[in-house]
Amino acid sequence: MSDRPYDIVLYGASGFVGKQTVQYFARHTDAEPVRWAIAGRNRQKLEDVKDAVGVAVDILVADSQDQSAIDAIVAQTRVLLTTAGPFALYGNALVDACVRFKTHYVDITGETPWVRTLIDRYHTQASADGTRIIPCCGFDSVPSDLGTYLVVRHIQQVMGMPCKTVQGYFQMVGGLNGGTLASGFHLHDSGQTAQLADPFLLNPFAPHSQAESDSLQNGKAERNRDPVTPSFDPDINTWVAPFFMSPVNTRIVRRSAALYDQWQEAYGPDFTYQEYLKFDEPLAWLKATSVTAGLALFTGVLQQPQVRSLLQPFLPQPGSGPSEQTMNEGWFTCELVGTAIDGRKVQGLIRDKGDPGNRATVKFLCEAALSLILQADALPGGQVRGGILTPATGLGDVLAERLRRAGMTIEVNS
Ligand SMILES: NC(=O)c1ccc[n+]([C@@H]2O[C@H](COP(=O)([O-])OP(=O)(O)OC[C@H]3O[C@@H](n4cnc5c(N)ncnc54)[C@H](OP(=O)(O)O)[C@@H]3O)[C@@H](O)[C@H]2O)c1
Repeated sequence: MSDRPYDIVLYGASGFVGKQTVQYFARHTDAEPVRWAIAGRNRQKLEDVKDAVGVAVDILVADSQDQSAIDAIVAQTRVLLTTAGPFALYGNALVDACVRFKTHYVDITGETPWVRTLIDRYHTQASADGTRIIPCCGFDSVPSDLGTYLVVRHIQQVMGMPCKTVQGYFQMVGGLNGGTLASGFHLHDSGQTAQLADPFLLNPFAPHSQAESDSLQNGKAERNRDPVTPSFDPDINTWVAPFFMSPVNTRIVRRSAALYDQWQEAYGPDFTYQEYLKFDEPLAWLKATSVTAGLALFTGVLQQPQVRSLLQPFLPQPGSGPSEQTMNEGWFTCELVGTAIDGRKVQGLIRDKGDPGNRATVKFLCEAALSLILQADALPGGQVRGGILTPATGLGDVLAERLRRAGMTIEVNS
């Protein structure tokens, strides 16, 4: 692949997140030179982004529905990074081309039913070819997936025993992108929301296979069921609520655990992962209850077509998102508590400044793509690993170290 003209192509570069990936690459590729280009469906918009950022990069144009034009882009690069979503609408031709041309792929989707279709269609071929197709490299699901992986490996390597459970606790301040809402609406309108309830939607076997039925019977499904009510959590001594991204993140973490299980590097027997929103005192109980009720109301209201069309003009539209100030003042923390099989606890922490859906997402995604190019030899599984992977199985410690060097706090302590 080294004879290809580009190392990384940024597709969807004219979108709200896409523009920020161009800014990130413009700032961060001086110290570590990579050959990169920007791409999307509209040349004029891409020219505008290039001028606004002030970079001298090539522009490649292809509509996501034009397979031969997409092929021409994908064949020229070693890694394709895309932010064009909803991914179920604009991602299919890209992944198809990446698998055929053996081009590694990263995106920021949170559309797990679409990821399921990728697993069914492409996992076998991409595994055989060593092509890393890695969806969910944004705020969903890097902190959950990478954080869990680091806590589990710490328990195994430092304490010398398997891990029983990991719990993730999120706190955050940030904004909402029009593109994220559009992806949520598409998921709902395409009738795929029922699949979100399957706790093992992304596991390596087809949902509801014999293995799945067995695990349902032995109570594994019950232990992995999404929380729906606020509760007091004795591990962190405060109130928690269901986290709205947990139906995405937990499925990715379970896929990582299941893949490592297949590769004889299991997290632990009957390993489970759950995650929550965490609330600090005072009035932690009230905050947890209000947020749970408010989120249920918001989700319910937006599912009513008439109410949604009334609210639509007041919601962020595709192409728009939070102000610079909101993005700069945002932050997130993801605290992790791992429990070894002897009951001892390990604490993990991933924390950064900046809006999680934009600043952190861009850092996660761009560093994921750079990991594939600049540290390919150090990636988990070596050069041969491929498939529809996760951040933990496709990038692992390499991504964690790059994120630390990019200023993110990532720690694990016994
Ligand atoms: N994982 C996370 O934490 C996270 C965070 C933020 C966003 N996201 C996801 O990222 C995606 C993008 O978000 P965003 O806020 O950047 O949205 P956006 O501003 O609406 O950008 C959408 C992009 O898709 C492109 N596009 C639309 N139709 C296309 C087509 N037919 N062919 C090729 N490209 C097409 C748009 O191109 P034009 O500019 O030419 O219209 C634009 O570049 C969404 O799916 C969102 O859910 C995930």
